[in-house]
Amino acid sequence: MDELKKAAARAAVERIADGSVVGLGTGTTLAYVLQELGAKAQRGDMRITGVATSYQARFLAKEYGIPVCDPMDVNFVDIAIDGADEVDPQGRVIKGAGAAHVTEKLVAALAKRFIVVVDESKLVERLGERCPVPIEAIAPALAFVQKRIREMGGDPVIRTGKGKIGPVISDLGNPILDARFDRIDDPAALSQRLDSIPGLVGHGLFIGMADQAIVARPPEEQPVVEVLEFRRG
Ligand code: 5RP
Repeated sequence: MDELKKAAARAAVERIADGSVVGLGTGTTLAYVLQELGAKAQRGDMRITGVATSYQARFLAKEYGIPVCDPMDVNFVDIAIDGADEVDPQGRVIKGAGAAHVTEKLVAALAKRFIVVVDESKLVERLGERCPVPIEAIAPALAFVQKRIREMGGDPVIRTGKGKIGPVISDLGNPILDARFDRIDDPAALSQRLDSIPGLVGHGLFIGMADQAIVARPPEEQPVVEVLEFRRG
């Protein structure tokens, strides 16, 4: 699996033009993107400014010698690269297994181009097939948000930490819910309904945001990289 992630990461980095402002996503696939970008930066082959979506992205960028700033420091991003948990045939995406989806969505929205990098295990026919929808909410609203999601047919569970007792708290300081839905027939409608819940900070449905998915398929020894094009908006 790692070889597939590396292959997708390399293909994504090839699409970054020298001098770009680059949104740096979060996750294990993005760690390879950052490694590759760092190697190019060290060789002097590429000068970019990274925009971090998480502490992970910021720390890795610093480790690899990539200049990095916060979303608040930029008015636009040339290209944002990020991983995904599920991608459907229309390029709609579920993100947030790393609890960074709120800032990831902001950086994707700031970006002129948003590219997701995945191995083929992330491709699904229907969003929600395998993954729950991650939801970030302010702590005082948690019970209220859970009630609203149940009324929508979801089953929201508070995400608990590994290496920490109690709830996962995002980089922004909020707890995370994972909401399973039996069947998501209309992801755009669900996205809008979730956005309308008071106290809900953000969710992991990215609708009409991705321009491309770079997909790496087996064999591991010689991955085949395919680029899927989507219409944004
Ligand atoms: C973090 C994310 C990640 O991009 C997503 O979970 C994919 O991660 P990985 O590349 O480790 O599978 O959305 O919030």
